[in-house]
Amino acid sequence: MKYLNSVLEAIGNTPLIRLNRVTSGIPALVLAKVETFNPGLSIKDRIAANIVEAAEKSGKLRKGGTIVECTSGNTGIGLAMAAAVKGYKIICTVNDKQSKEKIQMLRSWGAEVIICPSKVRPEDPQSNYSVAERISQEIPNAYWVNQYDNPLNPSTHYDNTGPEIWEATDGKITHLIAPAGTGGSLCGIAKFLKEKNPKIQVWGTDAYGSVLKKYHETGEFDEKEIYDYSMEGVGREFIPNSMDMSLIDHFEKVTDKDAALMGRRLVLEEGLWVGHSSGSAVAGLLQMKNRLKPTDVVVVIFHDHGSRYIGKIYNDDWMRMKGFIDDETDEDRIEKAILASS
Ligand SMILES: Cc1ncc(COP(=O)(O)O)c(C=O)c1O
Repeated sequence: MKYLNSVLEAIGNTPLIRLNRVTSGIPALVLAKVETFNPGLSIKDRIAANIVEAAEKSGKLRKGGTIVECTSGNTGIGLAMAAAVKGYKIICTVNDKQSKEKIQMLRSWGAEVIICPSKVRPEDPQSNYSVAERISQEIPNAYWVNQYDNPLNPSTHYDNTGPEIWEATDGKITHLIAPAGTGGSLCGIAKFLKEKNPKIQVWGTDAYGSVLKKYHETGEFDEKEIYDYSMEGVGREFIPNSMDMSLIDHFEKVTDKDAALMGRRLVLEEGLWVGHSSGSAVAGLLQMKNRLKPTDVVVVIFHDHGSRYIGKIYNDDWMRMKGFIDDETDEDRIEKAILASS
């Protein structure tokens, strides 16, 4: 018989799929590592399962224990999946800009969700980082995953995602591009690939409103770079320890609008229903297309699934409210039809 012992064994070995239409004008082969094929629909399943198993082995997580994490949603969903399989409790602290879908999804996986203000600095006691740290100290037998500082975040991708990409491209990959938040996915994959071939170029996408690009280019942590934006998971208002800046060759900033419109194009032109940050990766690549040549092989990472953004980038009202599209609303159409018939 051929079967898996639990859903956790279905994590990883995601497909590499060629992008054919959205990449017109890019003189290179562009392949997407589509992480939505993971059972929790995101790349974060990989680190979640690995971190929980390591915490069990080291005795940090024991029977009847509680997993605690500050998350923009996807890591929490991966952890909740592992918690369900292994019988742990889970508490997630999210900030108030995360999509309602992700919060409802976390609850449906059995997580207790604490919503924290997004407009406070990470060190503020109200931030989702501080609240996670505090409750992990208050609750007995609790384990705080802390993906921003946990070396198992990048090392999971060094051990798995990087080798998968190297093997699937037969070592021909020349460029890697991915949205960066904690930096764990991009830097873990990059470390493995650069050890294989130091010439591979590693590009991260960053958000307008995040400090990453400026810090990478100048070494200056500039608070003036921090302001509100809507992309989830991309960019940061501090420099996480899991982000090894020395592995990244370039950060490309992408607007919320360009990333959202590209997310929609990925569905309509490639049949891939992926999230806002995946749109940022392809929009960023298009902005960089002059640096590519026909023999290049680019791998772009698609972190999560479009179902998480049904109330945002896949919702015309939200897109219109943000000024990302200016189509007629159904109300406009009804009004026009009434006028025409009167
Ligand atoms: C949707 C999405 N895209 C991109 C990222 C960034 O990935 P990483 O934290 O590995 O840099 C995240 C992280 O939470 C995410 O949830």
